[in-house]
Amino acid sequence: RRLLGTAGAAGAGALVVGAGAGAAGAAAVRGRPEPLTSLGSASAPFHGAHQAGIVQPAQAHGHLAAFDLAPGTDRRAAAALLRRWSAIAADMMAGRQAQDDTSGVALDAGPSSLTVTFGFGRSFFDRTGLADKRPAALEPLPAFTGDALDARRSEGDLWVQIGADDALVAFHALRLLQKKAGDTARLRWQMNGFNRTPGATAHPMTGRNLMGQIDGTNNPKPSDADFADRVFVPEDHKGADAWMAGGSYAVVRRIRMLLDTWDHLSLERQEKVIGRRQSDGAPLSGGTETTPVDLDKVDRDGALAIAGDAHIRVASPATNRGAAMLRRAFSYHDGFRDDGAPDAGLLFIAWQADPMKGFVPVQRKLDRGDGLSRFLRHEASGLYAVPGGCEKGEYVGQRLLE
Ligand code: HEM
Repeated sequence: RRLLGTAGAAGAGALVVGAGAGAAGAAAVRGRPEPLTSLGSASAPFHGAHQAGIVQPAQAHGHLAAFDLAPGTDRRAAAALLRRWSAIAADMMAGRQAQDDTSGVALDAGPSSLTVTFGFGRSFFDRTGLADKRPAALEPLPAFTGDALDARRSEGDLWVQIGADDALVAFHALRLLQKKAGDTARLRWQMNGFNRTPGATAHPMTGRNLMGQIDGTNNPKPSDADFADRVFVPEDHKGADAWMAGGSYAVVRRIRMLLDTWDHLSLERQEKVIGRRQSDGAPLSGGTETTPVDLDKVDRDGALAIAGDAHIRVASPATNRGAAMLRRAFSYHDGFRDDGAPDAGLLFIAWQADPMKGFVPVQRKLDRGDGLSRFLRHEASGLYAVPGGCEKGEYVGQRLLE
């Protein structure tokens, strides 16, 4: 039994891990087909209080996609779509072949920690006559000075996040959802991302981003007393958007890294920009990766150990009146731009109970005085209301759409 997961986003507890390589080897000796290895047989539950794909560690392969409803689609057609999508997501996440699925792409593989997560964009509510149920939290994000947003790759009526530790399983999920959208919804944009493959490191570790930094260390942890308050809308949430109880808001930003410029900095400068050591993620105030950051520590030369514009100082809940979010990102690389620089960066996804107490105030501050922002371009943006999970026999979003 192999350990899955990263220390950053969440423990491996939320995943069910099946028989390990030892059992596989023994079965092969007895002449029976080998059982799946633990990577393929790990699964996340589709049903439950929250949708999957939030607290589970980010998988090795991810697809983000937004769909727009076809003109004239009403609430009933949207409800039928969410019912179809939920049914096939539940099947695929359990490693079952969905009804009528003859594509073959995911055959032979187990669920491979597949998660499928559905959200509603601001425009969904007008299209379906549900404007009176639109959460106030879906107000458009403010403009930031560092934004260079492409509207065609932003927003959208419906958002789908897919993650799996196998690339074919992830592609298959995206393809099947797209096919089952039928005439009801059309793909608006799609982005592909990746993370380190579980098992690539000698022991489970927080992942790295494409700047090489250990990323995710100071994320809220499911074991924190205030984790649920920060990440999920309360179960007893009242009002016109009571249907969001147990849900969360996802802020999605495609953030290109200006890697050519970044790579001109010495390692020492790069570490100062973040406030942590590249090798092991330890804060520059001392200790190891998990040592609490000491923002007040002054070095012998009288300078702050964590610089005034270091990313972890400017983004920290301690300097943002407690504002916090769960960051669960995928890296992306889409080839090279005309100037030869990689079109690469982070598909940044922040999860919070309220964007005004998470992403928005923190990004406002980063936009004004963060040493890292000079090396980043925010190129696409989306904000989605991600309803709570559903029970067996129900579909995601049923409380809104029924
Ligand atoms: C921390 C990288 C964008 C919010 C960190 C850390 C790294 C990092 C390396 C330190 C390790 C950790 O605690 O995870 C990046 C990169 C970004 C990016 C490469 C863009 C490509 C953002 C954005 C936000 C954000 C857009 C929010 C608006 C945070 C927060 C922390 C953090 C809240 C934890 C600070 C703490 O309490 O110590 N980031 N980040 N980051 N980042 Fe970012």
